[in-house]
Amino acid sequence: MRDFLKRLPKAELHLHIEGTLEPELMMALAERNGVSLPYASEDEVRTAYDFADLQSFLNLYYQGMSVLRTERDFHDLAMDYFQRAHDEGVVHVEMHVDPQAHMARGVSLQTVMEGLGQARRRAERELDMSSAMIMAFLRDRPAEEAMQLLERAEPYWEILDAVGLDSAELGHPPAKFAEVFQRARALGLPRVAHAGEEGPPEYIHEALDVLDVCRVDHGVRCLEDPALVARLREQGTVLTVCPLSNLRLKVVERLDDHPLPRLLEAGLTLTLNSDDPSYFGGGMLDNFEACHRAFGWSRDVFVDLARNAIDAAFMSEARRDELL
Ligand code: HPA
Ligand code: ZN
Repeated sequence: MRDFLKRLPKAELHLHIEGTLEPELMMALAERNGVSLPYASEDEVRTAYDFADLQSFLNLYYQGMSVLRTERDFHDLAMDYFQRAHDEGVVHVEMHVDPQAHMARGVSLQTVMEGLGQARRRAERELDMSSAMIMAFLRDRPAEEAMQLLERAEPYWEILDAVGLDSAELGHPPAKFAEVFQRARALGLPRVAHAGEEGPPEYIHEALDVLDVCRVDHGVRCLEDPALVARLREQGTVLTVCPLSNLRLKVVERLDDHPLPRLLEAGLTLTLNSDDPSYFGGGMLDNFEACHRAFGWSRDVFVDLARNAIDAAFMSEARRDELL
């Protein structure tokens, strides 16, 4: 099955590029940039990745990315990931990027965007891998700061495929960002948002009603609200589900308890994704394989899920035709 799943052309719609930072590269960049980390070895980094919830992960995620300082660092981060993803049969990657987390520590938006842009062009050329860029707003920071970022990103509006919403969900409902998302919409930018990972089903309703998102990242808690499930089914809203992430952040206790089979049975449009592969113990192929082991899904199910992702991806029709 692993061979089959590896060969299956996969598109990844829910990935945080800062979450692809492997301990090895983290240590190397810390050295290169003279940044001190509270770890003596890669093993210590891995041992620290024992999370109780989303917040405990985010603390280490923001600490880890402090080693990223230059264009070259962002290029190396993304290129490293594209190569690994390519080796797993990933043909298209949509990356969330968190500029506020970098700008807050003195790294310019230009450094982030140029470095990632170089890697994207190289992956296209050398790996025949297409990609998209989703500029995410940190929901645990003020909405005014998100608006400033959106305006400062003017030189990049053209290359952005969408805006997103991530970081600590509880206490930061989508409606907090109504104005920012309205502005993004006026600029013609598609919108996605994390909702219903740790937050309640109401946040999913809000992401749809107030932010007018075309996809919901995670969304697994929709099952607590049958009317919401019906709505998502009828609208064909895509959920970007991340099984190993949900396991590692204790959204579920065991993968066998994961809501994926129920979501599928409810007729929802689902995709499988890795979220933060370096922190959650596996990339796309590991996520696919873990689902095979936990749910016993046949090849047909994986073919459908992989197709959903290509259908829902921000890619040209020419590229879609090439992949389907
Ligand atoms: N959830 C919310 N915010 C995030 C995540 C996540 O899984 N990963 C990186 N930022
Ligand atoms: Zn995420």
